[in-house]
Amino acid sequence: MANSINRRTWIKSSALMAGGLALASGTVDKLAAMPVAKTQRLITNFEAEQEIMQSAPPVLKARLFFNENPFGPSPAAKKAITDSLDLSYQYIFAQTGQLAGKIAAYEGLKQSNIMLSSGSSPLLEAAAMHYCKGGKSVITGETTYDDLPSHAVLHGAKLVKVPLTKDYKLDLDAIEAKVDDNTGIIYICNPNNPTATVVDAEKLKAFCERVSKKTMVFIDEAYIDYLDDPKSTTLIGNVKAGQNIIVSRTFSKLYGFAGLRCGYIVAQPATIGALSIYGSGSGNLSSATVAAALAAYQETDFLKDARAKTIASRDFLYATLKKEGYDYIPSSANFVMFPLKMDGAKFVGEMMKRGVGVRNWKMNGTDWCRVSIGRMDEMEAFADAFKQLS
Ligand SMILES: Cc1ncc(COP(=O)(O)O)c(C=O)c1O
Repeated sequence: MANSINRRTWIKSSALMAGGLALASGTVDKLAAMPVAKTQRLITNFEAEQEIMQSAPPVLKARLFFNENPFGPSPAAKKAITDSLDLSYQYIFAQTGQLAGKIAAYEGLKQSNIMLSSGSSPLLEAAAMHYCKGGKSVITGETTYDDLPSHAVLHGAKLVKVPLTKDYKLDLDAIEAKVDDNTGIIYICNPNNPTATVVDAEKLKAFCERVSKKTMVFIDEAYIDYLDDPKSTTLIGNVKAGQNIIVSRTFSKLYGFAGLRCGYIVAQPATIGALSIYGSGSGNLSSATVAAALAAYQETDFLKDARAKTIASRDFLYATLKKEGYDYIPSSANFVMFPLKMDGAKFVGEMMKRGVGVRNWKMNGTDWCRVSIGRMDEMEAFADAFKQLS
């Protein structure tokens, strides 16, 4: 496993290669000089999955590992990619500005509040590096998406993990109670990956208003487009109010752009300036991706349709789990967590033998499975395989 490449290390190495010249030179040196054992800490959670991926049948019946959206990208995005090819020998400064401008106009912000990148991952990682410099701490939930926290640790941060509430939500009161003079950043994933829960929007807004006076708060809204009313849940309004927070968004989920790579953060211009030294930001984006994003951004009919299909597949999964006598955490995203009745790694391996890729987690001492929501034929393949094991 020592030299295995997983999705995250691939993204990381691509970002490093593409943005290498613009990265703070100390960062590159630090990563290059890092002992293998230390860099491996980043991928620990993915090792079991990686082993399974390597033994995966060449054609999966259901690819339910990575919370991708198999209903995207939209036809308009695909056409824009094809149409962009003739001019793809040109740099795309104007188009990236146009995309940032389009997002800013939709949100009622200025272009200087937006920073684009090849997916949101490089921006999560830049924030980890910047705000945890000098041994500062990162506070987050246990269990949550670990990209930002694990990068902070890699760069010398102290990790403070706060247990989830009984209903598997991030515990904002307990997180706030942990803030001290050494806190560098708080990471809130909302909806949270892997539990797919959301915190109360008004409570989170009030939390940010108070806590952002003491430390940086990072709100990861990768899955917010799956909510009934993202506008009432987003924390972008708190950015508009001038608060010291960062909101990240990605085209990788409901827009179906995971392979195209496009994401962004919304923050105060000074924050954007501070983070811009960690990579070349929109300079990592390709003309095809930017053309597709310009065509797809807020493309209401497509997004509505993809979301409706996701919800239909999710309802089918709920019914399957119920029928087999399993509980699950009600989901506000395109994945569902449920507690297993067998060893997690064994379960994932058995599902994989049947052509169905899912992930396992240890949470509160219990083995859990996270199933991404796919097309209906994929959920049927999940159900067929699951019935043989449950
Ligand atoms: C919560 C969360 N944030 C960020 C990302 C990174 O997405 P991307 O780099 O594709 O924008 C993911 C990917 O799965 C995620 O689950």
